Amino acid sequence: MDHTSVFLRKFLYDEGIDADLRRLIHTISVGGKYISALLQAANRKMAGTQNTSAEDQLEVDKQADIILKDMITSLDYVHDYASEEQEKSITTTHKKPKFSVSVDPLDGSSLIDVNLAVGTIVGIYPSEELINKGRYIQASLYILYGPLTTLVYTSGKGVHEFVLCPEGEFVLTKSNIRMKEQGSIYSPGGLRSEWIESHRNFIDDLVITDYKLRYSGGLVPDFNQILMKGGGLFSYPALKKSPEGKLRLLFELYPLAFLCEQAGGKATNGTQNILDLTLEKLHQRSPVYIGSKHEVEKAASYHKPPKAVKAVKATKPPKVTKATKASS
Ligand code: F6P
Repeated sequence: MDHTSVFLRKFLYDEGIDADLRRLIHTISVGGKYISALLQAANRKMAGTQNTSAEDQLEVDKQADIILKDMITSLDYVHDYASEEQEKSITTTHKKPKFSVSVDPLDGSSLIDVNLAVGTIVGIYPSEELINKGRYIQASLYILYGPLTTLVYTSGKGVHEFVLCPEGEFVLTKSNIRMKEQGSIYSPGGLRSEWIESHRNFIDDLVITDYKLRYSGGLVPDFNQILMKGGGLFSYPALKKSPEGKLRLLFELYPLAFLCEQAGGKATNGTQNILDLTLEKLHQRSPVYIGSKHEVEKAASYHKPPKAVKAVKATKPPKVTKATKASS
């Protein structure tokens, strides 16, 4: 860090984005610093509980969720907080709601015991309630806890990366990150024996055209690699036993799809744009192909439109039904 360093707060201000949105992003970045410190404390204890997706929770999964929930819902203009670690979203009683926030507090936490990178993923929506379509997303970011802690965000004006420096500030390292039309790496999620045939054929096509395999099993580091290397493809397909794949639309895919589009890339479920898919339940999953346009479009040439997913045209943000909510 030196006198030319641009701090996250200053960058957000210079971008001219709304003061409340700036404060929200800044607050999340502070939450990221606490989570980064938790991970440094070598806290690998299992919590002895499972999340809604029946995955075993670590103590840090729960602590990261509590940190972000407390910090985000304390802002008096945040309406809903939806977390991948909780079955239902939390609705605050704040009088002037302006944003709702979706959070995957610690994605890929099963990699913590082997010391691989993990991340926090956040989506910010301009509605007073959680909305059900990715297109309404206003800002998204992820925080990657690797050898460095980085924060990558977009508010719809390009994609920018900040590094958490030893002095405790997020400092700008890359602005206006762009993906090439075509990359040369691929990250294929899911067991090959479980892949549906169209996906297997598509991946074989990438292999014989000399794409390099780069897969850690953590969505945030795997996507980050594709973004920072300027292109390529991350995929998590429909599986034979799980046609909706594994990854969650609200907590993982909407935010990353927005970042990807802002960097000039594309994200689909094989045929339909991720941001155009309708969220029918909070923990809904979707197959995903995300990265450079060339690879995502090539994936589409191998897939037929899925019957189960409807493309819904909406004119204003529809509300999530009361059934998916709990009051704080
Ligand atoms: O959703 C959690 C997650 O760990 C993602 O970070 C990652 O992309 C995916 O699951 C890995 O799944 P698999 O172990 O099946 O490749």
